[in-house]
Amino acid sequence: MTHQITLQNKRILLGVTGGVAAYKAAELARLLCGAGAQVRVVMSGGATAFIAPLTFQALTRQPVATELLDSGQEAVMNHIELARWAEAVLIAPATAHCLAKLRLGLADDLLSTLCLATVAPLLLAPAMNSAMWANPATQENARVLQARGVRLIGPEAGDLACGEVGLGRMAAPEAVVEALAGLWQPGCLAGLSVLVSAGPTREAIDPVRFLSNRSSGKMGYAVAEAARAAGARVCLVSGPTALPPPAVDEYVVVESAAEMMQAVMARAAAHAIYIGAAAVADYAPQQAGPGKIKKTAATLSLELHKTQDILAAVAALPDKPFTVGFAAETHDLENYARAKLSAKNLDMVAANWVGQNLGFDRDENALEVYWPGGHRQLPTAPKPALAADLLRLIAERFAVQTMKN
Ligand code: C5P
Repeated sequence: MTHQITLQNKRILLGVTGGVAAYKAAELARLLCGAGAQVRVVMSGGATAFIAPLTFQALTRQPVATELLDSGQEAVMNHIELARWAEAVLIAPATAHCLAKLRLGLADDLLSTLCLATVAPLLLAPAMNSAMWANPATQENARVLQARGVRLIGPEAGDLACGEVGLGRMAAPEAVVEALAGLWQPGCLAGLSVLVSAGPTREAIDPVRFLSNRSSGKMGYAVAEAARAAGARVCLVSGPTALPPPAVDEYVVVESAAEMMQAVMARAAAHAIYIGAAAVADYAPQQAGPGKIKKTAATLSLELHKTQDILAAVAALPDKPFTVGFAAETHDLENYARAKLSAKNLDMVAANWVGQNLGFDRDENALEVYWPGGHRQLPTAPKPALAADLLRLIAERFAVQTMKN
């Protein structure tokens, strides 16, 4: 596939850290140059023990930087200029140590300093022994970095240099180039993690009866699938629906608003983007009795209590993901949507009319999307196509916000 990829004149800073897979970075540099990119290589001290800078110099026809305070290199382009020059920073291979440093924001060598100083998107192709990758410390580092918008490519399963077989091998150079090129495809979410909640919730009245709503889950499932198609790692938390499980990385089925709250809150901070597409019950019976309610009384009153707002709770997290809510309205769409945006501290609201043959339990929908200072109309379309448009817009706004932060 790589032969079709163009990176014409894209300025790529290729970071190489010290692992056996460093030899694959030479092929990567060759492919990047072949796709038309301008490539500058920065190597960590460890990397030079595995492969000589001269290899990269010959492949890229550019000087290779290794030292933070190398007077020769600083004269060509100092580390801040290099950080500004890059349109993307790609570290391949990225060792466990590299992930840990980036997570902490350490700046003790040229490459880590550049990563702190750049506003360009950062992509990592991790490579390490499978036990090191599986270690909770590395897993946590990877999750935190992803939640900050860093994109991970791989690792893959296979034979490892240590003689073991497992997850930890650097992604193939062709796959890395493809993921990198995805940065410039509009709406692409390559390497980002997206959490979606969908469907209705059921609030038990007694062991056999419940309160629910007309949500089919179709829009939320389409959003989850569109996010996956755009390259994201997707977790879908779903209330009960009649839909087949979609192709996502994690699928969690819940029943009540309280269960959905728990499932979402346990995962939200580890995701870069949260899209709350579920029709969460606003009120639930005070307490479901242990037995079935008998039809002896002539009238029956149910006392309902307000459920917690999941979307607002996610948006109030200190490490909040880019948070997108939905608003279904029968009138005053813009006012209600904008009020929701500020009241719940959201980054975006996708609003739709309900009750006009649109919205719930339909195959088509239309959205008015609002964010602080902006608005876009996504016209009526089948839900999968509409979801793809919405994801493109989310990716656009997410990129703008990441660059600002
Ligand atoms: O305030 P309203 O219910 O109209 O807002 C709708 C948005 O809030 C949807 O994105 C829905 O998923 C979310 N919501 C929630 N928790 C609730 C109620 C609504 O996350 N308890």
